[in-house]
Amino acid sequence: MSKKPSQELIAILDFGSQYNQLIARRVRESQVYCRLLPFDITPSELLNLNPKGIILSGGPASLAKEGALLPHRDIFNLGIPMLGICYGMQLLGHFMGGRIALSSERKYGKSRLFVDNDEDLFYGLGSSLDVWMSHGDEVAKIPPGFEAIAHTRSCPAASMRNKKQKLYGVQFHPEIAHTPRGKEIMRNFLVRICGCSGQWTMSSFIDYSLEKIRKKVGKGKVVCALSGGVDSSVTAALVNKAIGQRLGCVFVNHGLLREGEADEVMRIFAEHFHLNLHYVQAEDRFLNRLAGVTDPEKKRKIIGEEFIRVFTEEAKKFGQVDFLAQGTLCPDVIESLSVKGGSSATIKSHHNVGGLPEDMHFNLLEPLRDLFKDEVRILGRELGLPEAIVSRQPFPGPGLAVRIIGEVTRERLRILRQADLRVMEEMRKYEKFSEIWQSFAVLLPVKSVGVMRDERTYEYTIALRIVTSVDAMTADWAKIPYHILEKISNRIINEVKGVNRVVYDISSKPPSTIEWE
Ligand code: XMP
Repeated sequence: MSKKPSQELIAILDFGSQYNQLIARRVRESQVYCRLLPFDITPSELLNLNPKGIILSGGPASLAKEGALLPHRDIFNLGIPMLGICYGMQLLGHFMGGRIALSSERKYGKSRLFVDNDEDLFYGLGSSLDVWMSHGDEVAKIPPGFEAIAHTRSCPAASMRNKKQKLYGVQFHPEIAHTPRGKEIMRNFLVRICGCSGQWTMSSFIDYSLEKIRKKVGKGKVVCALSGGVDSSVTAALVNKAIGQRLGCVFVNHGLLREGEADEVMRIFAEHFHLNLHYVQAEDRFLNRLAGVTDPEKKRKIIGEEFIRVFTEEAKKFGQVDFLAQGTLCPDVIESLSVKGGSSATIKSHHNVGGLPEDMHFNLLEPLRDLFKDEVRILGRELGLPEAIVSRQPFPGPGLAVRIIGEVTRERLRILRQADLRVMEEMRKYEKFSEIWQSFAVLLPVKSVGVMRDERTYEYTIALRIVTSVDAMTADWAKIPYHILEKISNRIINEVKGVNRVVYDISSKPPSTIEWE
């Protein structure tokens, strides 16, 4: 029986390179499924996954230094095709009996690569091409059984192979855009060397995930905190499809949500998806605890603690629960792998359910662990989630509380919700709305004088925060056309009681942050 395409897996061992996500992206672009795994995975764990190929990533480590990250030595003898990239190639050289020249200098930049053998890895790429180098050490003497298949002017073994054992190494980075034909090199490895069929699609991922979830959960029960954000929504929809009513979801309305948000989430998930969804109206609990609190970190802490309390109480109503489903994504996993030097991933620290009490023993179910954000959106669409959810902007767990500077009160929440609604309504009309990372209002407890219908006013200020970003690590204030800013400002001042001034935040991150608290 032929293997299903979704079962063709490439294992990427993570040695901490900043480009690891790009390796995964290049593999997926060739329609081959891949997973990032800790560098010290054992040979038997690897064999259990039955990968068609292994990629050893680059990394900042040096074999010259103590504490260099080393894989298990037997992974080189599993008979599985392997591609070592940069540090990965040096590992291959080192473990297979070659000699590594250690260098304290780091060479990086564009190089011309001359192809000496175009049978497989460099098939169809001509005699020379531009590549991006970034390395200190290099393979000075290739191991027995290997041959150099490409060189640069300064590096005689810029690529090597052991054709019989299907072990390949490249000293440069094929995964980054500065190696313009890198995608073809990766594809040659995947298709020509590993024999992948390149037929992986999101619908095959769904079939594969459903099967995996059912197998893992067995007859057990799963609980999930649904926030209405993309990650938790897609997680809930996927797990629901796999095990139906044995998934119980908890939606906590902490009173810090945007206008209409709670109703929308309930409508979509309870009515449309028939999710086993518990709605908890906990506004009073949260607002009572927040009364009089102005310090941002204190606010966050209170909200986090209260959330866990409410969630735990509600989750207990489902009876014996075995798993907690979380929307952890690939970048979260990579971050924690890199930080911890490759040991298993932990829950994202800012996740609301990150600090569950110890008497709740859940196993984690993280069906999105191997996906990137844009892939999660595609998955959400395939699962039938509406665009309102799938293309939703990020929204912080502590909600509007971190967008009201100073004390959170019902009146301030009302004002902010009304202002925020107008920002959203007008921004949705902007033709470049899809390029915006986040667009929202912030309430400043600063009152200033204004004049409205011949009367003096003394009201709050709303700041508009509209940013572009790729990953929220850095962000730029968006250069929104004046007429849109004007319309937003006019509408807020005219329609929202309690505001007489609107300002535009023109700070980038860093040194500012996206949220004001
Ligand atoms: P900052 O304000 O740090 O935000 O530039 C970066 C991104 O993270 C979101 N954010 C949060 N998300 N819980 C979350 O789930 C939080 O406590 C939290 N704080 C900030 C923020 O909206 C932005 O996209």
